[in-house]
Amino acid sequence: MNRARRPTDLALNRTGIYLSPTDGPAVVEGARDAPSSPGCARALAEVRRQYAGEVGLIGHMPAPASLRVVENVGGAVLRRHKVHLLLDKLGERLAFERTGVRLFDALMAKLEAQGSWDRGPTLAELAQFRADEAHHFALLQDVLINLGADPTAITPSADLAGVELAGIVQVVSDPRTTLPQALHAHLVAELVDSTSWEQLVDLADDFGEAALAHKLREPLAQELRHRDTVTTWLKRHAALVVGGTLKYSA
Ligand SMILES: [Fe+2]
Ligand SMILES: [Fe+2]
Repeated sequence: MNRARRPTDLALNRTGIYLSPTDGPAVVEGARDAPSSPGCARALAEVRRQYAGEVGLIGHMPAPASLRVVENVGGAVLRRHKVHLLLDKLGERLAFERTGVRLFDALMAKLEAQGSWDRGPTLAELAQFRADEAHHFALLQDVLINLGADPTAITPSADLAGVELAGIVQVVSDPRTTLPQALHAHLVAELVDSTSWEQLVDLADDFGEAALAHKLREPLAQELRHRDTVTTWLKRHAALVVGGTLKYSA
């Protein structure tokens, strides 16, 4: 990467008012005098409270693809609710892994365009992590089918995962972001992903599904490695910047 293009270089930045003795106070005064909507923070909170009490949910669990789920739960309402929690969370991870593949696609394109640093990510490592995410997606698909669920259905938590990831996808796929900036956003995904895989393994254990829990432990180990590796890349980048020895190479 060209040194002059580093985001930490000084260049035009129109934000901040503390260094402007005349325009700074004028901006504060302008904000105070500007017309505003009636009400206050308390009134806003009250409206939110009303809405939260009145509106419905974001979504519900889809009907099972086969009778197996129903058979598994034995018809008991409480048990069915619990099984749906597991299916919802499996659906959530499925959605997350799908986007995980796309995040690595974008990171690989960025690395190809910008290069990497000493002990930073390599294309081969990113490709391996991408393959891990694709493998996790396929594994979850199989698990859901075997449980009698429809893997193409978007569960409520899967729906929310898509919204949660939207900002990360935006940062990583923005052509103006640097590889370290994109990796920082991606780290958010890996932190959530690794913790969520941990929860999924615990959930399978709690259900007494020992075989399923065992199957989910390999992806968990890989996700923990993704999280730790991305963290190490970013720490190394910062150390090179501080040491004045950061150099990008293809
Ligand atoms: Fe993942
Ligand atoms: Fe991952």
